[in-house]
Amino acid sequence: MTVKTEAELDIMRVAGRYVAEILFELTDAVKPGVTTMALNKIAEEAIRKRKVKSPFLGYQPHRGMPPYPASLCTSVNDEVVHGIPSDRTVLKDGDVIGLDFAVIHEGYVADAAVTVPVGKVSRSVQRLLNIGRQSLLEGILQTQPTKRINDIGHAVQRYAERHNYSIVRDYMGHGVGRRMHEPPSVPNYGEPGTGMRMQPGLVLAIEPMLNQGVKETFVAPDGWTVKTADGKLSVHFEHTVAIRQDGPEILTKL
Ligand code: MF3
Ligand code: CO
Repeated sequence: MTVKTEAELDIMRVAGRYVAEILFELTDAVKPGVTTMALNKIAEEAIRKRKVKSPFLGYQPHRGMPPYPASLCTSVNDEVVHGIPSDRTVLKDGDVIGLDFAVIHEGYVADAAVTVPVGKVSRSVQRLLNIGRQSLLEGILQTQPTKRINDIGHAVQRYAERHNYSIVRDYMGHGVGRRMHEPPSVPNYGEPGTGMRMQPGLVLAIEPMLNQGVKETFVAPDGWTVKTADGKLSVHFEHTVAIRQDGPEILTKL
């Protein structure tokens, strides 16, 4: 685990603002009839304009896995995370879409995600979106020096399960900095008061995934797209958060 200096946090703050601005622009473009590839084009143009890079494009966690082919992850309905933009995926009224996006600015990564409705969604879908968004904030509230890593997941899990949603275990949040994925892992479940103590200067990407049905997932034949085992809906929210002496600073907030 590495902690960042004030100078590094200054750079990450700019990276975080870019990610927030671009996710805002993407959210605004989500409408019935839009393809997920069109959203990726918007993301790539926004990256070009700010002279930053994508840590997603070409990303290959291990050899044998196909390199990720886009600069944005677009996960529709029962897709949990890592959906690949396609010009065959046309958004329709009532869908939900997760937009996961990151940039590299002056060598530092900021990473965030939101899930948004397409057109008008049902009351039950809106509730899933609201609880998902709030579960991330419940986790962020735990990022205080003196608290421990698993206090985050415990708060997220308790909040989600209290509202009868399940928490995906197969993917986790992570430290973030010069690399997109740094130690420690940040599970969205756990025992309170366990794990390492959070030190000021630690920067975490906290990213709960909540399912309407079972917590289990599988990877589609494209090698990337993660889907719910039962085909029910999933939502994903993520912020990059710096732990400061006086509590959390959300770097990917506008
Ligand atoms: N934000 C995600 C993460 O934290 C997405 C990375 S997958 C990629 O792991 F392939 F698009 F890079
Ligand atoms: Co992430």
